[in-house]
Amino acid sequence: MTFPDLPPILAIETSCDDTAAAVWASGRLASSVVAGQRVHQRFGGVVPEHASRAHERLIVPAVQAALDEAGLAVSDLGAVAVTVGPGLAGSLLVGLGAAKGIALGAGVPLIGVNHLEGHVYSVMIAEPRPPLPFLCLTVSGGHTLLTLVEADFRHTELGRTRDDAAGEAFDKVAKMLGLPYPGGPHVEQWAESGDAAFLDLPSPRLGPKGRRGDELFDLSFSGIKTAVRYWITGLPESERAEAVERHRADVCASFQQTVVQALVEGVRQAVRETGVGAVAVVGGVSANRGLRAAIAQAGQADGFETFVPDTAHSVDNAAMIAVTAAAKWAAGQADGLDLAARPSLAL
Ligand code: KG4
Ligand code: ZN
Repeated sequence: MTFPDLPPILAIETSCDDTAAAVWASGRLASSVVAGQRVHQRFGGVVPEHASRAHERLIVPAVQAALDEAGLAVSDLGAVAVTVGPGLAGSLLVGLGAAKGIALGAGVPLIGVNHLEGHVYSVMIAEPRPPLPFLCLTVSGGHTLLTLVEADFRHTELGRTRDDAAGEAFDKVAKMLGLPYPGGPHVEQWAESGDAAFLDLPSPRLGPKGRRGDELFDLSFSGIKTAVRYWITGLPESERAEAVERHRADVCASFQQTVVQALVEGVRQAVRETGVGAVAVVGGVSANRGLRAAIAQAGQADGFETFVPDTAHSVDNAAMIAVTAAAKWAAGQADGLDLAARPSLAL
């Protein structure tokens, strides 16, 4: 993939609980700003109405910071990109409204970007970039799927989770163990000092050898979550709080290892069956050091190349929206002011 020297693109991402803006200029990332929303910690999850209100407060400062960091003004922009979905309707509308206002004011085109395609393209922000075709494992708070990226914007799905997303499972197990939201980074941290052999948890891979019907890569996280819950409720009530406290690191390590193994085994099988020699792992859970190490090790053992974004570009950000927009624009794709939010958009 090549990125011709396009005029600067401002990108806006507000699909969930991060208010993000970035600038792509002269074929590279010029700035990236993410304003996280602390308001959700109090509720142990994202409250949509709070998310849209926080986006309203944070969007203009985030855009201004991204422009300042890039040393540019609105009048320097060549296009404005924005996430159209999937995501929370109210949150998407805040980003879309801001993007339309700026595009209209600057007299430049709008470029709508699919958030999931943004995650896939997060491995294109920096070099080395994966060659086409490549397999892409997207593991976030809302999605878990394996796709074959055959050409620009051509994704074939090879499998997905049947219930929770991987990040959602991390968040729910974290909550059961008394850890704050979002739970993924906390589980990772606790897992480091734990004994992964403490709990024998069911693998999220479905069916014998992870297969059900013709599916190549199918997962379900309900069994592993239930197993953790049963371990907790099986403890005598009088000792429960103390035992959870004492074994929190062990449960985190057992859970993380089981999930990472299932994801990596699924990818190895897909590599074997497709013969594709490049694998990208993207989305919030790809920030997990255990997963990053395991996929790199599998690549070395099986002879496939691996690509993961910088940790800052694993979790939600606007840099990935900017780079996707650059690729779309270079391919002649742009949108008008009738661009609509699409909360249920698929990849
Ligand atoms: O991609 P993302 O920022 O937002 C969505 O598009 O969903 O992903 C957020 C998810 C959350 O569930 C969070 O707990 C998880 O990614 N996550 C992690 C880690 N960092 C974020 N999960 C495991 N280990 C991490 N280090
Ligand atoms: Zn995301």
